[in-house]
Amino acid sequence: MLSAKEIRIQIIVDNTAPEGLYGEHGFSVWIEAGRERILFDTGKGEAVIPNCNALGIDLSTTTILVLSHGHYDHTGGIAEALAFASAARVVLHPGVFTDRWSIRTGVPKPAMMPAESQKALVALPPERVIRTGEPSMISEGVGVTGTVPRLNGFEDPGGPFYLDTEGRIPDPIEDDMSLWIETAEGLVVVAGCCHSGIVNTLDHIIGLTGERRIATILGGFHLFAASPERLERTIEGLGSHDIGRMIPCHCTGSEVAEQFRRRLTVPVIPGHAGLIV
Ligand SMILES: [Fe+2]
Ligand SMILES: [Fe+2]
Repeated sequence: MLSAKEIRIQIIVDNTAPEGLYGEHGFSVWIEAGRERILFDTGKGEAVIPNCNALGIDLSTTTILVLSHGHYDHTGGIAEALAFASAARVVLHPGVFTDRWSIRTGVPKPAMMPAESQKALVALPPERVIRTGEPSMISEGVGVTGTVPRLNGFEDPGGPFYLDTEGRIPDPIEDDMSLWIETAEGLVVVAGCCHSGIVNTLDHIIGLTGERRIATILGGFHLFAASPERLERTIEGLGSHDIGRMIPCHCTGSEVAEQFRRRLTVPVIPGHAGLIV
């Protein structure tokens, strides 16, 4: 089992970025865990390569590319990233290729993986692609959740997401999955958008691993549009878990992150591009 000290995580792409790095509505994280070099998501596309260059991250050393789900803001840079990561295996949920839209103001906005990214994935030799909707260990001590059961009744996908342009068929975003690393100090959990809900996700990972200590949870928690009731129950749910620190990023919402900081007893560090964990 790795010690938390043997793990280095750096946010490559986030909505927030300091001078010298590109910010965009997207998410991408670099994870060094033992011998693995994991690229978790690729942002919307424009920021991943320049930010890796600025941060000194060598994508050609990538051993695994993990996709948290098929939304464009996590999959837009796949072709660019794979051009460097020419030996990486790719771990994805079969649902990442789903056509889907977000309909916020009556006008359907495509939310699916861009065609260029789909093309790059389809062109890979099959032995490099691991398609799984089930919980899977992808390396020693590193797992992905597969589809997260939605059990608690107060967490929904978090937005007006549909499988059709008329808004008739809701998109449950079943392909949403998170990654965990087992360490001697507890679990490190990395989420993309957490459309399954942060509490559902933690409960699922705890059930799979039998480990209740969450050393760090980092990622987009997709709560910027959450109802006050959901937020209350989320804060309650998080408060009942043994969490070492939280790093809310991307689609969590800055006001929500601030509420976490004020109301939870755990340290809450808002994420941004370049942040090293
Ligand atoms: Fe997102
Ligand atoms: Fe998303």
